[in-house]
Amino acid sequence: MDEELDGLEVTACERCPKLVDSRSQIVNGTGPEDADILFVGEGPGANEDEQGEPFVGRSGSVLDDTLLVVGLEREDVRITNCVRCRPPENRDPTKTELENCRGYLEAEIERLDPDVLVTLGKVPSEHLLGRSVGITAEAGSVEEIRIDGSPRRVVLSVHPAATLYDRSQEETFRDALETAADLAG
Ligand code: URA
Repeated sequence: MDEELDGLEVTACERCPKLVDSRSQIVNGTGPEDADILFVGEGPGANEDEQGEPFVGRSGSVLDDTLLVVGLEREDVRITNCVRCRPPENRDPTKTELENCRGYLEAEIERLDPDVLVTLGKVPSEHLLGRSVGITAEAGSVEEIRIDGSPRRVVLSVHPAATLYDRSQEETFRDALETAADLAG
């Protein structure tokens, strides 16, 4: 069998030939299954591919630090990605790759049933909202989407890496996380 889902863990998948070649492992979501907030990133980078966990590199440190600022800890939240395999040279996942992995993400959302989703950056925001997003302008806004008929609240956010290139994004990122914390509390 070339596809296996064990609870929330994808243990085998060969839907995306390029990603099968570029990944060293499948990176599943981490964090408690009863988390109120589910963060959705784009896809694993080099550090995540190596360690097998989402957001463990520099972006992860920014996320951890900002969670603390808004009164949360990484252990309180669930973190996952739109695609679970590292794209070659950290390129964006293609539309096909995103669609190939959508079922795993939606199954995770349905199973966890979090109070709020936070999309980290343009790619996950557009993927879940199904429209184009100007993420800098729209970060912090809250939208309702439907996944398999159920309403889900989404807080749009810039990607934590954006704060590394542009310090002015720190406040935008923090405000989005604060909005998510308020909604979840
Ligand atoms: N960026 C992402 O979008 N996801 C990760 O897991 C790491 C960096």
